[in-house]
Amino acid sequence: MKTINLGNSGLQVPALAIGCMRMDGVTKKEAERFVKTALELGANFFDHADRYGGGSCETIFAEAIGMTAAVREKIILQSKCGIRPTYFDFSKKYILEAADGILKRLKTGYLDVFLLHRPDALMEPEEVAEAFNELQTTGKVRRFGVSNQNPMQIQLLKKYVKQPIVVNQLQLSIPNASMITSGLHVNMGEDGAVNRDGSVLDFCRLHDITIQAWSPFQYGNPWAGGGLFLGSEKYPALNALIDELAKKYAVTNTAIALAWILRHPARIQPLTGTMNSDRLRDCVAATDIVLTREEWYGLYTAAGNTLP
Ligand SMILES: NC(=O)c1ccc[n+]([C@@H]2O[C@H](COP(=O)([O-])OP(=O)(O)OC[C@H]3O[C@@H](n4cnc5c(N)ncnc54)[C@H](OP(=O)(O)O)[C@@H]3O)[C@@H](O)[C@H]2O)c1
Repeated sequence: MKTINLGNSGLQVPALAIGCMRMDGVTKKEAERFVKTALELGANFFDHADRYGGGSCETIFAEAIGMTAAVREKIILQSKCGIRPTYFDFSKKYILEAADGILKRLKTGYLDVFLLHRPDALMEPEEVAEAFNELQTTGKVRRFGVSNQNPMQIQLLKKYVKQPIVVNQLQLSIPNASMITSGLHVNMGEDGAVNRDGSVLDFCRLHDITIQAWSPFQYGNPWAGGGLFLGSEKYPALNALIDELAKKYAVTNTAIALAWILRHPARIQPLTGTMNSDRLRDCVAATDIVLTREEWYGLYTAAGNTLP
């Protein structure tokens, strides 16, 4: 498995991360088989959130992997907090309580990376800073990051938080690539020029923040009418080209979808959500593919994205 530097933290992590959001959807046996396969493939970076399965995904994971001190040393654990059932919460009290709950469920003394899950409109950055300091000095968290944040939100946080922000988790897939589209259409009188994220892609590159691409196989928000684009009738041209490239590189369509994200020079780390061991092998195969420029742009436009 190829590795990348997480932010500029010096921590080498697999080019591909495993999202555990759907782990409550499989049996205990399947979860055990899945984490075993992941470790065999060198995919030892696991993403969690206190929100996933109401905390149950973290519990299931710790059981499936048979968490011990020895196992813990072999894996990289990331989790997130900030989403409550009906609102967002970056208060110091909540962040500290959430971290303790996560550590307990994951049966570990520390997290390698801890992220703020989704922007809280009522955030007091001073409180976040206090929480981060406490989590760092007590050894509970080694690195910090954010998710779904734009450049100004990160700058605001950085004014108060002394720890580097090493990760920003954002939705990205071939058909859901507005962060790339707005950079291509700069200053044009076209829909593609609409900048929805404050140029977050360039900002993260400038500040050594690793973008983790969530839902890399979905064409929209999975909770708001999105769905899988692989094999979907909504994307005939995209699927035809994906299939052609899959043949050329002797991999599955799953691998080509990830190879498109991996080809970007920002060294974006895709966050896969599969719980299927065979599909995970297909995903890992993507890390050996380097698409040509023509192929990369071809997939981008076949998905309906435009060039100026
Ligand atoms: N920060 C955030 O706000 C945020 C939001 C959402 C997710 N995330 C993170 O991102 C991770 C990935 O999200 P996701 O699960 O929506 O991503 P995804 O990898 O795009 O979707 C995975 C789902 O697609 C299914 N699938 C069906 N056919 C597939 C194929 N050919 N190739 C790949 N997948 C196929 C998988 O089923 P099988 O299990 O049967 O393969 C699984 O249910 C999550 O686990 C979580 O860690 C973060």
